[in-house]
Amino acid sequence: MAVPAMTATDGTLVRSTTVAPAAVAPATDPTVLPVAITGLGAYLPARTVDNDELSRTLDTSDAWIRTRTGIATRHVAAPEEATSDLALAAARAALADAGVDAADLRAIVVATCTPDHLLPATGPLVAAGLGVEVPAFDLNAACSGFVYGLRVAGALAATADGPVLLIGAEALTRIVDAGDRGTAILFGDGAAAVVLTAHAGAGLGPFDLGSDGSDPSMLWAAATGTRSPATPARLAAGEQYLTMRGGDVYRHAVTRMTASATAVLSAAGVTIDDVDLFVGHQANARILAGVAERLGLPAGRSHVTIDRHGNTSAASVPLALVDARDTGRLGPGDRVLVAAFGAGLTWGSTLLTWEGRRRE
Ligand SMILES: CC(C)(COP(=O)(O)OP(=O)(O)OC[C@H]1O[C@@H](n2cnc3c(N)ncnc32)[C@H](O)[C@@H]1OP(=O)(O)O)[C@@H](O)C(=O)NCCC(=O)NCCS
Repeated sequence: MAVPAMTATDGTLVRSTTVAPAAVAPATDPTVLPVAITGLGAYLPARTVDNDELSRTLDTSDAWIRTRTGIATRHVAAPEEATSDLALAAARAALADAGVDAADLRAIVVATCTPDHLLPATGPLVAAGLGVEVPAFDLNAACSGFVYGLRVAGALAATADGPVLLIGAEALTRIVDAGDRGTAILFGDGAAAVVLTAHAGAGLGPFDLGSDGSDPSMLWAAATGTRSPATPARLAAGEQYLTMRGGDVYRHAVTRMTASATAVLSAAGVTIDDVDLFVGHQANARILAGVAERLGLPAGRSHVTIDRHGNTSAASVPLALVDARDTGRLGPGDRVLVAAFGAGLTWGSTLLTWEGRRRE
């Protein structure tokens, strides 16, 4: 398959034509890690922006946004807050929930596509905030980052003699063009974290993870890396901002999340009726409804937070898990099917069980 050449606004070629190998569909990863989720915690910035506020500066309306996306409001980081600040607050909440001292952590993984900087990574900044010097790094699989992170951080935890912290943290509003109604209405900021602990009786998995990088411009922030560095001309053209072909993304999201979740159920030898709660990536309420319908999910078993959070990318699944726990919809021992989809394209699904206590 030929990867197409693309031209930036300033006329330079940003991706040369190359011949990519034929795509091979990934096999489902049957691994079930002996790892328990023993703590959950979240942080949402204090400021919320509702659709009416957006409608004052954009040619949009509360009715359009609610009908097309399900979003009513979203949280927006304060000017002095960066992704590591959100991540650190979520980390502290998860550690407190698990009753774990930061000094006992063995590693920290931050799933994010909106790091504080290109380098250093956000992980070491969070570790420093917690006062520890453990291995700490970022994982970027965009909106699938948390599910990818469960595989990576879970594998670390499975063989560690102490807990591992996985955080999904994003400040998406920093990379959207506030004047673009096609994207500015969709995204929000936030972070949530889980404590992963080796536990012989627990099961995290199987996993279905995949990617298709043959058309990166479907959903990207073009001038943010080495392919087309952020020159003054590109910045003036707004190429540092997230852009997407919304309809294409929508169709891929429904198809990929459904197929991925189905593959996980099959690999686990269970049916959708065995799932207590479905937590999908919160990108659009219509996408979630479409996936739930195709999976044959019984009514009321999909947890939806997009109305209050918007799309928070790698933070969306763990934020929804915390919300489900806090609203009594997730109880100890419940089997949760998670599925995500994002830029890359990337997708991923797994089954998890939350072992912690129900919040009163
Ligand atoms: C972005 C998205 C909400 C758009 O919804 P949609 O139903 O596909 O709407 P369309 O893009 O077809 O646009 C329909 C019309 O609404 C207009 N429109 C777009 N954004 C609008 C807004 N915020 N307010 C009012 N009108 C808007 C369009 O210009 C278009 O007008 P036209 O018919 O006159 O051309 C939807 O495609 C989506 O959610 N895609 C997935 C995005 C996503 O999840 N991205 C992250 C993945 S992790």
